[in-house]
Amino acid sequence: MARFDDTVAIVTGGVSGIGAAVTRRLVDEGARVFVADINADAVAAASDTFGPNVAGLRTDVTNEAEMTALFDGALERFGRVDSVYNVAGGSKPGRIVDTDLATWDFNIRLNLYGAFLGTKLGAAHFLAEKKPGSIVNVASLNSLVPMHFGAGYAAAKAGVVMLTENAALELADQGIRVNAVSPGLVATPLTGGLMSMPGVTEAYMERIPTGRAAEPEEIAAVALFLGSTDASYINGENIVVDGAWQTSGYPDLRPFLG
Ligand SMILES: NC(=O)c1ccc[n+]([C@@H]2O[C@H](COP(=O)([O-])OP(=O)(O)OC[C@H]3O[C@@H](n4cnc5c(N)ncnc54)[C@H](O)[C@@H]3O)[C@@H](O)[C@H]2O)c1
Repeated sequence: MARFDDTVAIVTGGVSGIGAAVTRRLVDEGARVFVADINADAVAAASDTFGPNVAGLRTDVTNEAEMTALFDGALERFGRVDSVYNVAGGSKPGRIVDTDLATWDFNIRLNLYGAFLGTKLGAAHFLAEKKPGSIVNVASLNSLVPMHFGAGYAAAKAGVVMLTENAALELADQGIRVNAVSPGLVATPLTGGLMSMPGVTEAYMERIPTGRAAEPEEIAAVALFLGSTDASYINGENIVVDGAWQTSGYPDLRPFLG
């Protein structure tokens, strides 16, 4: 028996970076996966990319009607939902004094509304079915450690962690677990642009004691642990996966982005 045999997972952001690694590993361990992403082409190609046990729907995670349609689509296609991985996220950087409300909204909506809607709809489904379920929210080391040009993103990710704790408080007695994983630096398309700027990788590596970025699979491994019955007594937790970066803090990005 594989760990996720006979189970169905929803993975937002499930076609790129960390989300793609979560999708791939879930399938490898027996699950069927319904992916949600704003990238319509990648969602349409999901069965070709990940195999016949993966389907999906182009979804904007900030839109409640689209997220509701996502859950309906997963149930129609695979007949059940056992876990939800809220991975979609991203950032528009900027100094606080330069940040207009549209930019602030972008960061809060994508990272915090997305996790909220996935948590709300996942929990509502598990409660309606009167069955246990697991929700994993991908936050960030920035939920705990600030970063120059990152106020909106960091505030949203801190919100994701408190949402996670609050959801566990509300739902634990009904057999629903809600946990978070907070990556440090991960080699994905999200960080590729920043890391290719001259000097930025060196500045990061001065601060990351492990001396390298994580691979997406190293974050997926922890997300799947939290989503699995191996973590049956872990609820409301935020696991930092950062190669000890939290011990040293972020580099000063002002010379690069200022
Ligand atoms: N890469 C890192 O260093 C790092 C570090 C900490 C946290 N994270 C978090 O990990 C998660 C995954 O990031 P990644 O590095 O794999 O990035 P990625 O850019 O590879 O993947 C993000 C995915 O989210 C999708 N997406 C963006 N906006 C969306 C929307 N409105 N609705 C639906 N989907 C949308 C994108 O199309 C993309 O497929 C994010 O929440 C990110 O904040 C990443």
